[in-house]
Amino acid sequence: MVALGFVFGLVLSLLLPADASADVGFRFASYIDNYMVLQKEPAGAVIWGYGVSGATVTVTLCQDQETIMKKVTSVKAPSSSWMVVLDPVKPGGPYEVIAQQTYGRMNFTLRVHDVLFGDVWLCSGQSNMQMTVSQIFNATSELSDTAAYQSVRILAVSLNQALQELEDLAGVDLRWSKPTSENLGHGDFKYMSAVCWLFGRYLYDTLQYPVGLIASSWAGTPIEAWSSERSLKACGVPRFIPSDFGTGPSENSVLWNAMVHPLHNMTLKGVIWYQGESNINFNRDLYNCTFPALIEDWRQTFHRGSQGQTERFFPFGFVQLSSFLSGATSSEGLPHIRWHQTADFGYVPNLRMPNTFMAVAMDLCDRNSPFGSAHPRDKQTVAYRLHLGARAVAYGEKLTFQGPLPQKMELLADRGLLNLTYSQQILVQRQDKKIFEVSCCSDQQCKWLPAPMDTFSTQTLALDITSCQDTLVAVRYAWSTWPCEYKQCPLYHPTSTLPAPPFTAFITNQIPDDLSKGQMISMHYDHILL
Ligand SMILES: *[C@@H]1O[C@H](CO)[C@@H](O)[C@H](O)[C@H]1NC(C)=O
Ligand SMILES: *[C@@H]1O[C@H](CO)[C@@H](O)[C@H](O)[C@H]1NC(C)=O
Ligand SMILES: *[C@@H]1O[C@H](CO)[C@@H](O)[C@H](O)[C@H]1NC(C)=O
Ligand SMILES: *[C@@H]1O[C@H](CO)[C@@H](O)[C@H](O)[C@H]1NC(C)=O
Ligand SMILES: *[C@@H]1O[C@H](CO)[C@@H](O)[C@H](O)[C@H]1NC(C)=O
Repeated sequence: MVALGFVFGLVLSLLLPADASADVGFRFASYIDNYMVLQKEPAGAVIWGYGVSGATVTVTLCQDQETIMKKVTSVKAPSSSWMVVLDPVKPGGPYEVIAQQTYGRMNFTLRVHDVLFGDVWLCSGQSNMQMTVSQIFNATSELSDTAAYQSVRILAVSLNQALQELEDLAGVDLRWSKPTSENLGHGDFKYMSAVCWLFGRYLYDTLQYPVGLIASSWAGTPIEAWSSERSLKACGVPRFIPSDFGTGPSENSVLWNAMVHPLHNMTLKGVIWYQGESNINFNRDLYNCTFPALIEDWRQTFHRGSQGQTERFFPFGFVQLSSFLSGATSSEGLPHIRWHQTADFGYVPNLRMPNTFMAVAMDLCDRNSPFGSAHPRDKQTVAYRLHLGARAVAYGEKLTFQGPLPQKMELLADRGLLNLTYSQQILVQRQDKKIFEVSCCSDQQCKWLPAPMDTFSTQTLALDITSCQDTLVAVRYAWSTWPCEYKQCPLYHPTSTLPAPPFTAFITNQIPDDLSKGQMISMHYDHILL
């Protein structure tokens, strides 16, 4: 069939009159289509496509038959591509985008209709990003909740890999569409992402202008597949020949090449990311480099590709991994990968990850998920927490978008207490005897011992450290695969109900040998810089 089609196509093009071929190659980039959302002001949206080298292309933006603006460019050789940057447009629509190619006496026109201007978000990652609305809790009512969201438009990139960076997408699974229950629920892990959709829907509730959502994710894939060669090199990632790895492609850069790079000429507002499970047992201790490097590389590439229209440090949000029981993938490395997702700071944004936001999800576990505990069905809360981060970091709203972390610690040795003072108010939902641990050392030998939660007030919490008879060098929280049951972690922020993130804090100052009873020492420690 394939061979026949090729021969037929070849014959057909030989039979066409020479000048008619001026029409044949003229098209928009594959993701420029009816119902799309283009990035609104203050950025200018990029429109591009292919044509006949040397031809003139005029792009016109129209509303109600009226011309709003015209941009003229020409088709470049040897790429046969053309590109224009529109002037900034206020949110709203619908508009029509018309591109006309003229070459000698030949001209050819393309149109896309019902185009809106708003904020465009790209959503990427592995299976937890790929899960669809039909797979989550309350699927039926979520799938039917689309009537008020006709200005939230969706697009799903098809699953492809490539050894070289592609200029255009090899395919689109779901063309730009209005949301319907069919478009949001094609089947398990098929097409539109639930996290992406719900994130956009929550954003729309506050923004009240169009939101464009692009899903480009693939189950069972490590970060290396989504990273360019440049960023992997920066982290010293070895060349990897996959054997029986995971379920999706794992070769370096193959998904970056085919599913992200082709979007880099688009103007975007930001990115959200839900990935990391496939790195729990693969290059895990490089993740604190590969993840910040991916963010930096995507930012550079999209900024350059859009001729500076996509912000250089565009907002980048991500989900810190939830809890799951060991299945196909061992989950023992979960606390480490959660920590590495923050570049070992415990919170974002931080010095190595500027303009980022994170949804903590360790308390959204789902033991009985029909898709395995690695695929929790509560995507609403994850998306809600992410959208709070976006509102604060991407839209500058003053609101609480992360849970409490300790800001100061005091060792009350005589009373066998370590007092933590939090950056924000804390809601102690439950007392826990094991979720805090202290590292206790004598003669080069250190071990983690439980430090039960003791008394607390609105912003402080005392830990019982009597289990440590030697030198206390560090403290950590929720440093386990499954720290608590669904929404039952011990510590939350009272009004936002955001969970306290996991942390590990090393005490850096020398502990005096003569640590006498009654002496109170204020300790400084790495990483938690608030
Ligand atoms: C394009 O072709 C149409 C007829 O097919 C003609 O009416 C129109 O003037 C042409 N436009 C340009 C810019 O050449
Ligand atoms: C990443 O984590 C590993 C293991 O904890 C550590 O050895 C390394 O120094 C960290 N690298 C960066 C860049 O933070
Ligand atoms: C996309 O951006 C890259 C980097 O600036 C550029 O080389 C390429 O030509 C652009 N593509 C088009 C179609 O203009
Ligand atoms: C599902 O719907 C019920 C009833 O409206 C609600 O209480 C619950 O929070 C919803 N679950 C999620 C995960 O949103
Ligand atoms: C330590 O924490 C407890 C409980 O929150 C509090 O009552 C006490 O005042 C704190 N002690 C100091 C010295 O801060």
